[in-house]
Amino acid sequence: MNRLPAAQRILLYAAFLVLLATGVLWESVSAGPWASALMKVHGAAAMVALVLIGTLIAHHIPAGWGSFRNRWSGVLLLTALGWLVASGYLLYYSGSETLRSFASQSHLWVGLAGCMVAALHLWRSAITSVR
Ligand code: HEM
Ligand code: HEM
Repeated sequence: MNRLPAAQRILLYAAFLVLLATGVLWESVSAGPWASALMKVHGAAAMVALVLIGTLIAHHIPAGWGSFRNRWSGVLLLTALGWLVASGYLLYYSGSETLRSFASQSHLWVGLAGCMVAALHLWRSAITSVR
């Protein structure tokens, strides 16, 4: 058993749904006040998500690793999150236009792929559950 406490699970779902929604909406609006409002919300949700990922490092990940369940989907999820964090950093601080454009493209596609990996992690968790 490696279930997350309800509050932690709900906060995780909420933060990642806001990240996905604001990221996808930002792609579909043109530059202007809406786009900048969406990025302000996205940046705030990203900071909340980083705290929540920290809480998983404290217990969920080591406990899940030791149980041998969900290892591959968990590692894939962590890899995608790692790239989202690294490319998010580049979006803020990269001085180079080429690097920023690479970070922008890869951030979006890894964000979308990461949602599918999250679905895989939850599905694996449901089918291997011993509850
Ligand atoms: C190597 C890394 C990871 C491992 C080994 C792992 C392992 C597991 C396991 C074994 C379960 C099944 C729990 C159960 O049904 O009792 C699970 C569920 C879950 N994991 Fe992970 N996990 C990892 C990373 C992550 C990450 C990075 C996230 C989120 C960003 C995450 C979010 C969840 C959620 C939301 C569930 C469903 C929990 C529930 O039903 O209460 N996991 N994980
Ligand atoms: C832990 C997860 C995430 C972190 C830490 C993160 C972080 C960031 C940061 C720092 C920015 C730059 C904000 C700005 O320019 O004002 C950004 C932009 C963006 N994010 Fe995320 N994000 C995450 C997840 C996602 C997800 C799941 C998506 C899904 C589509 C996504 C899509 C986008 C898009 C489209 C942009 C605008 C890119 C650009 O400026 O060219 N992000 N994100």
